[in-house]
Amino acid sequence: MRQLARSARNLLGLTAGLCSIAGLAACHRSAPVSEGPKPHASIRDIMLYEIDPAADFVWESVSTDVTSEGVKEHQPHTTAEWQTVQSQALRLAEAPNLLVVPGRRVAHGGQSLDDVDAPGNLTAEQIEQKIVADPALFARLAADLQTAALKAVDAAKAHNSARLSDAGAAIDAACESCHRTYWYPGEADYLRAHGVTR
Ligand code: HEC
Repeated sequence: MRQLARSARNLLGLTAGLCSIAGLAACHRSAPVSEGPKPHASIRDIMLYEIDPAADFVWESVSTDVTSEGVKEHQPHTTAEWQTVQSQALRLAEAPNLLVVPGRRVAHGGQSLDDVDAPGNLTAEQIEQKIVADPALFARLAADLQTAALKAVDAAKAHNSARLSDAGAAIDAACESCHRTYWYPGEADYLRAHGVTR
């Protein structure tokens, strides 16, 4: 068995050598592996089941509740609590990779987006066209969310609630700038037309 593994390795070495000498076209594996996994969830599913719950967990882990009984500050205390925040932040940091998988639909047929009737909001088809027209822009906005989420991962590793709170604000800004571009780009015009500034 070990002998077989060694000869397989030698063969691989030989092939790699040939590839570098001849630059054989067959040696370039540029085509995607067709039997690999494919996207099934829509962008909407990923928002609802991955991104939103993970972000909520991070936001709520450093937060202030004001109730009739007074003000209650939340922050992780134990190592286990910090580890849970870290795992949710990491889940949030990986989700942007899911968003940019080629062939991912914005919504499954018949699924209607939240607030689709609000003035200036795009439909799923319009969002999809916008993403396909400039995939680099969508990828950059997805990467911004990843950068912000990784700040939360680092803050959780360092057990630092002030940095976790800053990371929470950066995450919020990343959500907003993508949503303003793709989901409700007309909102700013609508508010301006109605004399609302923010
Ligand atoms: C790279 C772009 C991008 C980023 C970043 C992003 N979103 Fe979204 N999100 C979208 C798009 C596009 C839609 C509208 C289409 C849809 O509903 O899937 C959307 C819709 C949503 C929805 C509504 C789903 C529904 O019911 O229709 C929620 C909730 C949501 N996002 C949460 C978040 C949160 C929370 C963050 C940040 C932690 C975030 N999103 C970051 C692109 C993004």
